[in-house]
Amino acid sequence: MGIQTIGVVGAGTMGSGIAQSAASHGFQVMLYDVDPAAVDRALGRITNRLVHEVRKGRLSQNETDEILKRVRATSLLSDFGQVDYVVEAASERMEVKKKIFQSLDEVCRPGVILATNTSGLNITEIASATNRPEQVVGTHFFNPVPVMKLVEIIHGAQTSDDAVQIALSVCEQMGKQCITVKEAPLFVVNRILVPMMNEAIFVLQEGLASAEDIDKGMMLGANHPIGPLALSDLVGLDTLLFVAETLFEETGDSKYRPAPLLKQMVRAGRLGRKTGQGFYKYDD
Ligand code: 3HC
Repeated sequence: MGIQTIGVVGAGTMGSGIAQSAASHGFQVMLYDVDPAAVDRALGRITNRLVHEVRKGRLSQNETDEILKRVRATSLLSDFGQVDYVVEAASERMEVKKKIFQSLDEVCRPGVILATNTSGLNITEIASATNRPEQVVGTHFFNPVPVMKLVEIIHGAQTSDDAVQIALSVCEQMGKQCITVKEAPLFVVNRILVPMMNEAIFVLQEGLASAEDIDKGMMLGANHPIGPLALSDLVGLDTLLFVAETLFEETGDSKYRPAPLLKQMVRAGRLGRKTGQGFYKYDD
């Protein structure tokens, strides 16, 4: 029968993007969040993105209606007894993820692959909360998910080659391109990207240039689509700090210490786009 229905856990930025990409490529989607309001917001975000695609002439109204019909919202994890594959995109907290994986293991049919979307948490530890560690795999999507082509597929210590192949095939059917990565703190892309963003914050903190000029420098001098500070605002400074701390703590290497200015901004509640203020101000 193959995989027809994908269960997505978590209706935040990443979960809604993953749900949109899956539904746009023909999968039925069951979108779960403990908070029914979060699911409503996610459906609103997906609808807005699709309306944009219709305006741009890349989708017909009919196709949009079909995509939206394929997304079913639920606040009952027990509904995941019907799904063929799961992507968990809840918050980046090990205890939260382990609890969810324990429940998923109880609810999902035997053999169903449980993928976790994480920026850098340890897949082996998440898998240890289940009785099917060989079917737990990391699939790291990038923000904004509908636009970004890459997924990193991560082997945990016990992940089977079959599970990796199934995750790869599902992500490719969602229109993504994949790289396979061994488990290590922050995997591959964030291991390189996060220290670069953190360094840009040190540069700002040291007063070497304005935020605008740092970003302009990296856009025009390194051909990045947006500068590292604008990207930090897009990712969310709380997420960036959490990921930077994971790299620092897991490696114990002082070169990865998070910039004090990043910590200060998070403490001040300036988290980037989602709060309207980060290194830049946002109106919408
Ligand atoms: N969802 C869907 N589409 C979006 C979007 C979103 N949240 N944000 C922007 N887009 C679309 C726009 O609608 C636009 O599409 P159009 O051509 O149909 O109009 C297109 O992307 C370009 O957008 P803009 O013209 O508004 O702005 P940009 O040209 O700057 O593009 C961007 C926006 C695609 C986000 C681009 O700046 C970019 O590629 N930035 C780098 C993103 C990146 O590096 N992401 C990785 C973050 S790290 C990460 O996720 C790892 C995590 O674990 C920490």
